[in-house]
Amino acid sequence: MKKERIIVIDFGGQYNQLIARRVRECNVYCEIYSYKKDLEEIKAMNPKGIILTGGPNSCYEPGAPTCDKKLFQLGIPVLGICYGAQLMMHILGGRVEKAPVREYGKTEVIVDKLDSSIFEGVSSKTTCWMSHFDYISRIAPGFEITAHTADCPVAAAESASEGLYAIQYHPEVLHSIEGSKMLSNFVYNVCGCCGDWRMDSFVENSIATLREKIGEGKVLCALSGGVDSSVAAVMLSKAVGKQLTCVFVDHGLLRKNEGDEVEAIFGPSGNYDLNFIRVNAQERFYAKLKGIEEPETKRKIIGEEFIRVFEEEAKKIGEVDFLVQGTIYPDVVESGLGGESAVIKSHHNVGGLPSVVSFKEIVEPLRDLFKDEVRKAGLQLGIPEYLVFRQPFPGPGLGVRIVGEVTAEKVKMVQDADAIYREEIAKAGLDKNIGQYFAALTNMRSVGCMGDERTYDYAIALRAVTTVDFMTAESARIPWEVLEKVMNRIVNEVDHVNRVLYDITSKPPGTIEFE
Ligand code: XMP
Repeated sequence: MKKERIIVIDFGGQYNQLIARRVRECNVYCEIYSYKKDLEEIKAMNPKGIILTGGPNSCYEPGAPTCDKKLFQLGIPVLGICYGAQLMMHILGGRVEKAPVREYGKTEVIVDKLDSSIFEGVSSKTTCWMSHFDYISRIAPGFEITAHTADCPVAAAESASEGLYAIQYHPEVLHSIEGSKMLSNFVYNVCGCCGDWRMDSFVENSIATLREKIGEGKVLCALSGGVDSSVAAVMLSKAVGKQLTCVFVDHGLLRKNEGDEVEAIFGPSGNYDLNFIRVNAQERFYAKLKGIEEPETKRKIIGEEFIRVFEEEAKKIGEVDFLVQGTIYPDVVESGLGGESAVIKSHHNVGGLPSVVSFKEIVEPLRDLFKDEVRKAGLQLGIPEYLVFRQPFPGPGLGVRIVGEVTAEKVKMVQDADAIYREEIAKAGLDKNIGQYFAALTNMRSVGCMGDERTYDYAIALRAVTTVDFMTAESARIPWEVLEKVMNRIVNEVDHVNRVLYDITSKPPGTIEFE
């Protein structure tokens, strides 16, 4: 496993994780490190190739992120993208300066050297995504220009004999129509990779490694029923069977029937060899949330109560050897251990667990995987598709989808409305195209009429967004007939709801959740 790897050196650009994902889509393992990583350490990892990312700086300015000139003399192929390309030229004796015309967006790139290894199978005119204000005005000695655009004399350059390639545009972005082909050409034609990163062997190897590491040890896992914790749990169950105990805390803020569904899959009548403990803690959570309206306070209470409940269960089990964490690769990169573009993750669900459970070591079987790879591993492990492709669901659950105070009655309203909404979206065949969709309960009551009676009841808000990364989102354009059907069913079938609203707010300025 992982015999060959490509290393992405991160200069702070926004698409850096995307580069690593594209490389992995070529079945080549890829890791991201900050530009500050020591050259000797990089060398010791014996990469088949190195990719330098984009970044927001100007490479000729004092203090700009840089790298050791020796990086280009290791005999390891290097591909510089955008800032990485400019830096390569700057360090090796070319010239980079402010461009007379800033290029941004889809741009036609004219390939001047069609027989370049990197352009194999690529059209002579190809649309690529540009985003730069500096440009390479003179290439470094030993290089030749291999592509240009109307405004950019050096869209690509190379010194094939040294294995050095520079491209000004972003091949990792989908708007670069043949970008994936170019990255694939780099890893296969230039770096000579053979493509040994495959999910089937990853899963098989991980199970074997976990079995060896754990031995006779006892393992504890907080199972939420979400994709990451489910895949981690099944992997461990395959490795060590009943040595694994999964604790599933039902906080009473799950979607309709979700607790029973999780139990059906992982419980004693389910498919997996593990100990499953379901804690029905609904009343505890509702009691703690009584009278609380402020969103962040609700989040905090739910998070803390979750830890308390889990802690009590863990104590009953006694000393365990290993605690499972569903950390995935973007968490590793974003927590600053990997790349440069640090984002502080604020939505971590089980971050507080290690401090309250007595264990010897943490196991993180998904630590190397991107989300789409976690899903592939899930399918490989035979986990049902509906679970593997579940939309994201926040840790505090319906607690952040009920505006204001949470009560058992309100939970039921939002659960019932949400179940209808999800059912109709799936019936209309829209479920695969919408990033996230759900019903939320507004705290608004208004007057309506039902038959001959006046009502004074709650309004449900329907939310549906399309999004790539959940950082920005747009409201989905759901056909009117589908919305009407959902509205009809909700007001007829859900007690105490007499109005249905559709939220068209984008993010920003809105958020996806209501709180
Ligand atoms: P927002 O509402 O911030 O949501 O636009 C972005 C994504 O994060 C999820 N989300 C959460 N996930 N705990 C979580 O585990 C939380 O407290 C939380 N709040 C939001 C949300 O569902 C969306 O996918």
